[in-house]
Amino acid sequence: MKPIPYGKQHISEQDIEAVVSVLQEDFLTQGPRVKEFEEKFAQYVGSNYAVAVSNGTAALHLSALALGVNQKSKVITSPITFAASANCIRYCGGEVELCDINPDTLCLDISKVREKLESAPRGTYQGIIPVDFAGYAVDMESFRKLADKYGLWILEDSCHAPGGFFRDSNNGVQKCGGGSFADAAIFSFHPVKHIACGEGGMITTNDQYIYEKLLLLRSHGITKDPNELTKNDGGWYYEIQSLGYNYRMPDLLCALGISQLDRAEEGLKIRREIAKKYIEAFSGLPVTIPKSSLHQGHAFHLFVIQVDERKALYDYLKGNGISAQIHYIPVHKQPYYVELYGEQVFKHAEKYYKRCISIPMYPSLSSNDQDYVIETIVQFYKQNHV
Ligand SMILES: Cc1ncc(COP(=O)(O)O)c(C=O)c1O
Repeated sequence: MKPIPYGKQHISEQDIEAVVSVLQEDFLTQGPRVKEFEEKFAQYVGSNYAVAVSNGTAALHLSALALGVNQKSKVITSPITFAASANCIRYCGGEVELCDINPDTLCLDISKVREKLESAPRGTYQGIIPVDFAGYAVDMESFRKLADKYGLWILEDSCHAPGGFFRDSNNGVQKCGGGSFADAAIFSFHPVKHIACGEGGMITTNDQYIYEKLLLLRSHGITKDPNELTKNDGGWYYEIQSLGYNYRMPDLLCALGISQLDRAEEGLKIRREIAKKYIEAFSGLPVTIPKSSLHQGHAFHLFVIQVDERKALYDYLKGNGISAQIHYIPVHKQPYYVELYGEQVFKHAEKYYKRCISIPMYPSLSSNDQDYVIETIVQFYKQNHV
């Protein structure tokens, strides 16, 4: 039997046809699918603009540049995230300032961020990168209020949460990356994510200045816009007006993204059903379900449980053909960051890391496989592994 992974893409006939049709047309990259994907994605999350880029890490890097991160910047993020949420600050020469997580949401604890801002002179910090960890939509309205008080920008890392939402103070639905509160938000289209393109990423924003900057940075800082050029030698003429990159997402992958986006809500619904089934199944076991998993707007990129005997459970699942995963080893425990900033302690992040394990969660996880995952975990506890 093939092991059951913790996450997996689902490729439909429609996806295959969408990619094949690009192969039969004129553009492999920078064709009409890029704009179409951007427009449809912006519409899906509710933002004014979207910029497709080569992956989520590139999305973070370009956003950090567009928001002005440089050697003088100090930017706050969560220790429980994928490396890229912190690394993007380092790419621009800035300093990574971690704050502990809230043990209920597993996301950046706003009260800890407030304490940090209050205890330093104004202007010490420039921005915050909250991460919608596992698919839980962070309350961006509260972060906005705090950021405004101290003059900070917000870059929301929504890689885990396309389609996730929270309710604002007027009870309105606010989707992750919707642009109302964060200055920019980013997404990844890695195969384990909701929208799987192999590689790919998206930045959403409501800010025209950031949008235009991102377009330039994505493609070598080059412009051909006659209104922007300092002179014009003819129809071929272009100018490099700032140092940019080749972080473009090709037409081929955007076609796959458009097709996957069509099924995004369907996939989300299945993820939420699987979560409900897991929550019910584990209710009598010594398994902690994070409070965030009970939240209506959770997008369930991951289904994380917390158990005391995490290593034994991980090995037992592996031995029974289930590839669980650990999300994440805290950023401050990584040798690169220890060397940079020394030993740091974030109590809740470390406590969480000792007990966390992500079990299979993806829309094509069959009902039989869901049952098998549940039975295997139940069996683990029956066999007195505690
Ligand atoms: C929270 C988070 N941020 C950023 C990234 C980076 O995305 P990508 O792998 O597309 O570069 C990931 C992907 O794993 C992620 O989970």
